[in-house]
This record gives sequence, C-alpha cells and structure tokens, in this order.
Amino acid sequence: MAVDLLLGLQWGDEGKGKIVDVLTKDYGIIARFQGGPNAGHTLEFDGIKHVLRTIPSGIFHKESMNIIGNGVVIDPVVFVKELEGLDKFGIDYKKTLIVSRKAHVILPTHRLLDAASEASKGKAKIGSTLKGIGPTYMDKTGRNGIRIGDLELANWEEKYRSLADKHEAMIKFYDVAIEYDLNELEKEFFEAVKALKELTFIDSEEYLNTAIKNGTTILAEGAQGSLLDIDFGTYPFVTSSNTTAAGACTGLGIAPNKVKEVYGIFKAYTTRVGSGPFPTELFDETGAKMAKIGNEFGAVTGRPRRCGWLDLVALKYAVQVNGVTQLMMMKGDVLSGFDTLKICTQYKYKGETISHLPYNIEPENVTPIYTEVKGWKEDLTGMTEASQLPKALNDYIDFLEKELEVPIKIVSVGPDRTQTIHR
Ligand code: IMP
Repeated sequence: MAVDLLLGLQWGDEGKGKIVDVLTKDYGIIARFQGGPNAGHTLEFDGIKHVLRTIPSGIFHKESMNIIGNGVVIDPVVFVKELEGLDKFGIDYKKTLIVSRKAHVILPTHRLLDAASEASKGKAKIGSTLKGIGPTYMDKTGRNGIRIGDLELANWEEKYRSLADKHEAMIKFYDVAIEYDLNELEKEFFEAVKALKELTFIDSEEYLNTAIKNGTTILAEGAQGSLLDIDFGTYPFVTSSNTTAAGACTGLGIAPNKVKEVYGIFKAYTTRVGSGPFPTELFDETGAKMAKIGNEFGAVTGRPRRCGWLDLVALKYAVQVNGVTQLMMMKGDVLSGFDTLKICTQYKYKGETISHLPYNIEPENVTPIYTEVKGWKEDLTGMTEASQLPKALNDYIDFLEKELEVPIKIVSVGPDRTQTIHR
C-alpha cells in the first residue's frame, strides 16, 4: 500500500486538522512528520472544539494508529498537557499513539533560547511561536540534540545537563533580559518526561515500512505550510523544518516511490501569522472583515492573523514544489457577502510582469496583479452537497482549477466535520 500526504499550501492555518479528521476513517495510520507544538490543529465535532499540537489529528478515531515521526520535535511539558486534554474524552492513547525514538526533545532551555534569539532581533524578529522549535532543530542539525530514544538510556540526564548548561551560556551571550527560574522549569520537564515514558517508543521507519508491506493505508499529516518551509518558504521568516512533501520522506523514513496522493489544502483567501512578506495582504476593512468572519486568531498564540486575497502565484509554486494531486479549499463560507473578489494571478516584479514566485517578495519588489470575479451572497454553512453551491462560487472554483491544473475535491464550508462538501 502507499502513503498519501496532506499538506498546507500557504503560511499554515489552512485547516489541516479538520481534513485529517474527516479523512482518517480511510486510513489505518496517521503520521506527523515535522514541526512540533508550534502547530495548532483544530478539530470540531459534536459541538466540541479540540486543538492538537503534536499529536496527530487521527487520535479521535479508535481504529487508527497515530505515529509521531522522527522529523517531529516534542516538548514533553506541552505533550503531556495535550494527553491530559484527551483523558477527558476517554481516548485510549496508550494503545493508539506511538512515538519515534528518533524524534528530538525540546528542552526548557530551547524555549528560553528561542525567546532570547527573538528578543535580540528587535524589529527583524521572525514572529516565532516561541515554543523552542528553531533551537531544537539547530541542535538536531548541529548533532547535539537529545532524542526520544535517549530517554531510555540510564545516563540521559547527564547528557541533558551538559546541553542545558551550554544553552544557559548561550542565553547570556544574547545579552537580552530574559527572566526565568530554571529549577522550576526543570521540575515540570522531568515530571513530564516520566509521563511521556509511559507511551510506546518505536523505530518508526521500520514500523511504517512494515505497515506499507502489509497493506495498511497511511496518511502523513503536515504541519505549518509550504511558504514556511525552511528551504522553499519566505526565508528567514519561516519555521525550521521541511513542511513540503519531501519532509514527509525524511520525517518518516518512507521512500518517495511509496507516496501516492498529495492532498494540498488552501484557504479561499490567504492568512499569515508572524512577520514576513505577504504580497496580497489587506490593511483595510476588507481584510478586517475576513479576519472577523474567519475568526483569524492563532490557535497556539492567540495572535491575530494577517489576511489578504488569494495569491495564485504563491499557490502555484506550492502545488509545484509538492506535486499536489488533489486540492481542498477551506473556509469558502468566509467569503460569502463580498460583491467582488480579487485573485492575484501575477506579480509586477521590478517593473516586469511575472507568473512565478521570485527569490524576493518584499513589498518594495512585488506588486500583485489581480483578476476580479463576482462574489456570492448565500450562506454556505448549512450546505452539504456540491449541487447546492452558488454559481459564483462554482465559477471561482473553476477559475482556480484551470489556473492550478489540479482538481479541487473538497470544499469546506465551516469548522465542523459535517461542513465538508466532496466534489
Ligand atoms: P516557529 O516555527 O515557532 O519558530 O515560528 C516561525 C514562523 O512560523 C512564525 O512566523 C510563526 O508565526 C510561523 N508558524 C509556526 N507554526 C505555525 C503554524 O502552525 N501556523 C501558522 N504559522 C506558524
């Protein structure tokens, strides 16, 4: 059997959690392959809203196994709080959630380093979620990190101490005022590690490849979005992992020829949280209206998200880099009530008209060129069938499919599991 990938195509927050939850019934395994508690995957069903951070979004389905792959970074403190949240719903996660020994551990000092690094950057700050993601991946690539498998070793606390001491020296180097009580943070951390060790740690690449041989269906769940990818995103305003399709191979240990469908998720408009360029950003009432109707506040940090029109130049780039085979359009309902809608189809770049995403998309270099289309007035949130969708929305979808050359298979018209239209 093959592996299907589900990826965000913009700057994150596309609604991956909801779609994984909707698709999980078709898969035996849901696997997270990168990122960590910087993610906030929101799921809504039976009138309850759940926000998952590191745990795969298949956890609410009893029949599927959930794997945290080697490409993920885990903060035991956040993770254990997430598990406690599941206790309320009687989820038997000790049976259905397993963790790769090769995933890296976020230490309390990684979080402090993140804060010190951001504070030292002043106006150039990335707008990090401050969950210690960057410093943990730096220790991974610097070959200093602590992995989940290390927690099974008798002397892992020695390794911890030497790394934490090194981090403390680095925090001083930043020369910014960061207040913390490391004893307190460590107490919480060691308690959380104890709880985390009650879960099963595995050689996940072996587990997944055996599952593939045995015919189990696997869905790899991405976090963040393609434009936050460390290589292909709007560097340096990106996260520290490969959020694109290739990241699923390195973050799970599956070969590229095992990948079949690549589901690409995008919002019917664009949002971004944190700093960095965003060519179609709106600073007017239209943007404020999208933010209000779309409830555009970060699931992890609560920060307001920046909003703007759909950017097809950026979306085409993400479709190409990921090899997307099917698209899913989220939050179509948020665009109800606009007389006209704008879609960015090209950029004016240094005086020239271009159709590809250039190296540099800062506002001084790029001006979006828009096509204007008719909006729709109907409330979509109660619709369940493709035949109910208004003509103007179908025209919007047709336009996008033609431009992107990939079919849009799902249109989401609200946050609940049931508000999902299959085409
Ligand atoms: P970090 O990954 O927390 O260091 O954040 C780096 C950048 O990625 C910041 O601009 C964050 O706002 C953004 N970011 C990280 N995770 C997410 C996410 O899950 N959704 C949206 N933006 C994110």
